[in-house]
Amino acid sequence: MAKNFPKDFLWGTATASYQIEGAFDKDGKGKSIWDTFTHTPGKIKNNENGDTAVDHYHRYKEDIGLMSDIKLNSYRFSLAWTRLIPEGTGTVNQKGIDFYSKVIDECLEKNIEPFITLYHWDLPQTLQDKGGWANRDLSDIFADYSEVVIKNYGDRCKNFITFNEPAVFTIFGYVDGYMAPGYKDLNKYFASVHHVNLAHGKALKSMRSINKDLNLGCTLNMAPCIPATESEEDKHATKLFDTYWNRSFADPMYLGKYPDLLIKDVSKYIQQKDMEIINQKNDFIGLNHYQHYRIKADDNNLLKARGAFNDELPFGLEDKNIKLTLMGWEIVPEAYYDQIMDLKNNYGNPNIYLTENGAAYPDKIDENGEINDDDRIDYFKKYLDAVHKAINDGAKVKSYFAWTFMDNFEWALGFEKRFGIVHVDFETLKRTPKKSYFFFKDLVENNSIPD
Ligand code: FCB
Repeated sequence: MAKNFPKDFLWGTATASYQIEGAFDKDGKGKSIWDTFTHTPGKIKNNENGDTAVDHYHRYKEDIGLMSDIKLNSYRFSLAWTRLIPEGTGTVNQKGIDFYSKVIDECLEKNIEPFITLYHWDLPQTLQDKGGWANRDLSDIFADYSEVVIKNYGDRCKNFITFNEPAVFTIFGYVDGYMAPGYKDLNKYFASVHHVNLAHGKALKSMRSINKDLNLGCTLNMAPCIPATESEEDKHATKLFDTYWNRSFADPMYLGKYPDLLIKDVSKYIQQKDMEIINQKNDFIGLNHYQHYRIKADDNNLLKARGAFNDELPFGLEDKNIKLTLMGWEIVPEAYYDQIMDLKNNYGNPNIYLTENGAAYPDKIDENGEINDDDRIDYFKKYLDAVHKAINDGAKVKSYFAWTFMDNFEWALGFEKRFGIVHVDFETLKRTPKKSYFFFKDLVENNSIPD
């Protein structure tokens, strides 16, 4: 039986400014925390950086052209705040505004609906110097930034995502320290959680005050958490981690309250009316999902609980022979289904945009110049099957954005992890579609999963 998707389903790929654009100091762009972090020796694998990345800044027409060739009807990308407002607040940089205007126009001309993320981790360095998200003022500054975005792009684009994966950038950036800004500080972390929630609410309000017809939400990275062993410690750690990872943003934003295990730590940052501001009407939840997490208790971790990230093998499975992606991530399509159904059942059956899903593999160009990434195709098929099942079971899924369009700079892991459906030669920057790119062609053409 053909597995068809709804008629108006959006098919696309997702990218993020720092990972693809390059031109890190061109045309008036200010410095972001990722410019600082990558230029600090020892922070990134092989000390690589996104100074040039894959030069999308100069090649966006070619890239959007490749999307259009296979009839992708949507594209999720993020804005570099420092291109638009180099110091984070104050003077607007017209050249930065013009760049994304051109990207949007190029998409529209090709019948590709833009989905714009305002914040995919590249905070202006000047705002980090003021304390970053640990500083409450950033919630207002972010709302001001969101107004600039809507004033310039709200006429042509209606889909906006405030934040990409707030749990990831607050935990990895303020607790584990292996992403920018590289802190290990629990107080800063708890403050940041609340201020990012607040920034989301204030931004929704500001954006709607300019244009009430927008389609607005936040993208969260959520996944079922399971204990690495049956020990009581690991079971408790799993509850903690589930709270920090899955619920610290979803619950305040979408249900209007902090989870019980978190409220004590954030309450000192909450002022009157904050919860009301945070719990604005959202039009959708954006879901990024890759795998489930096996959690263990860890006294050396500030949160006392952690999963395996950054090239570690899943805890509890170290000596088992299971198939993992190049990130060391497990392939568990059932967890995708469960996560989508969790949103349906526990967050008021919202519109769900699947904003990222995909897999890294060590792709090689063969002697015929082809990249036969069958493992990636297999991953997509299994995960899309789970999506299809969730839709059949009543989840209101509106889109699927594969991570990612082309190989790019994978944060602290540098360029080694290739996720793209288009291969990039990092020396010459030449783009070559992989077999999975043609899989997407079939998928979109038939609006159903190819056999
Ligand atoms: C997500 C990020 C994205 C990319 C993928 C692999 O957590 O949002 O930028 O790095 O992981």
